[in-house]
Amino acid sequence: MSGDTVPVGTDPLEPGREAATVVDRARALLDAHWQPRGFTVPNTAVYPHQWLWDSCFHSVTWLHVGDPDRAVAELTNVFARQHDDGFVPHMTYWDQPELHASFWRRSGESAITQPPMYGHAVAELVRAGVAIDAELVQRAAAGLEFLLGPRRADRPLVPIVHPWESGCDDSPRWDRWAGPARTPGSWRARKGELVDSIRASATGSALANPDFEVESAAFNALVAFNARELVDVGLAPGLAEPVDALVEALDARWDPSRTSWRDEPADGASDPLVRTLEALLGVLVTPDGDRVAAVFEEVLDVGAYGGACGPAQVHRDEPAYDPHAYWRGPAWPQLTYLFWVAARRRGSAAAADALARRLVAGVERSGFAEYWHPDTGAGLGAVPQSWAALAAVVVVVEDG
Ligand code: GLC
Repeated sequence: MSGDTVPVGTDPLEPGREAATVVDRARALLDAHWQPRGFTVPNTAVYPHQWLWDSCFHSVTWLHVGDPDRAVAELTNVFARQHDDGFVPHMTYWDQPELHASFWRRSGESAITQPPMYGHAVAELVRAGVAIDAELVQRAAAGLEFLLGPRRADRPLVPIVHPWESGCDDSPRWDRWAGPARTPGSWRARKGELVDSIRASATGSALANPDFEVESAAFNALVAFNARELVDVGLAPGLAEPVDALVEALDARWDPSRTSWRDEPADGASDPLVRTLEALLGVLVTPDGDRVAAVFEEVLDVGAYGGACGPAQVHRDEPAYDPHAYWRGPAWPQLTYLFWVAARRRGSAAAADALARRLVAGVERSGFAEYWHPDTGAGLGAVPQSWAALAAVVVVVEDG
């Protein structure tokens, strides 16, 4: 494995004392962000509501820092506003249901979804021996069935119908929809318009969008991974076959010349593929060992995505790469965590070890930021942010 470049002397996992501190600080952070209703806010000022994939990551973290009750409560609340067809809103406005009601045209919840990380969270609870209700399992399976069924309709892959559904809001993968004069402000306004063009079912579940439908490689990798997580712990066996087909369809989008998966078939591609980290999440599900090796090499290589504080979210050679800008180059803790999970599952112990060390370096230097500079760890976005506490999971498991 090439490119393990964490500088000597910046290895916060080495002394046991410091490793314990990361877990203690992560636990204290989650405690400070815990809401009596039973979920953790990402940040008390910037993100004072419940977000779908954040809560799934929080649930996994609560489990590993020793509070399975909160892990179950938070995951249960992800589904508080699930629709009868399985659709899970990406945000729940518990205490201010009317706050953005005119924007979303409904109260209490958003009109879009987010990566269905609940399959992983359920599986982690099951693997830890935590008793969970059949209803929680059924809700997680129904969320995935909605995506693979009504949302996918007759497509090979599941489309996202708004950039925010990716969780990676300003990724250069969406620049085609932002236009050449893109600025963060103009893109924010455009994203508002793209909410208006969403087509929903009679019950308000987002199904399509004539102005933005993308078979995102990243999103599909996470749909497949989360469904497989349920199948692997003996739940939702009916998902096994559709997910195998989904992985096959995703793998048909591999572009060896760019070491990445495409969001569209190569023959229908209208733009050169922009190399972003999230598009490599297929490493969680592909059966192709050569692709797995190629992805980890790039994810760790400082000439590609690698950084001392975790992989950059945009390949360093892309014109869009900016290590300070939101979703244009910084390292994101939840992405580093997912690549660490992939490395462990795919038997890449050296990659898992390097990613664990880099994630911990990032949280230490950034003060548990939302995202940070991949080389220096300088904190960016909201500080502190709850999902940075995922560093405690890698410490607990790696030290395990
Ligand atoms: C930002 C991120 C999104 C996340 C949310 C709350 O909008 O792009 O992925 O869920 O913040 O942390």
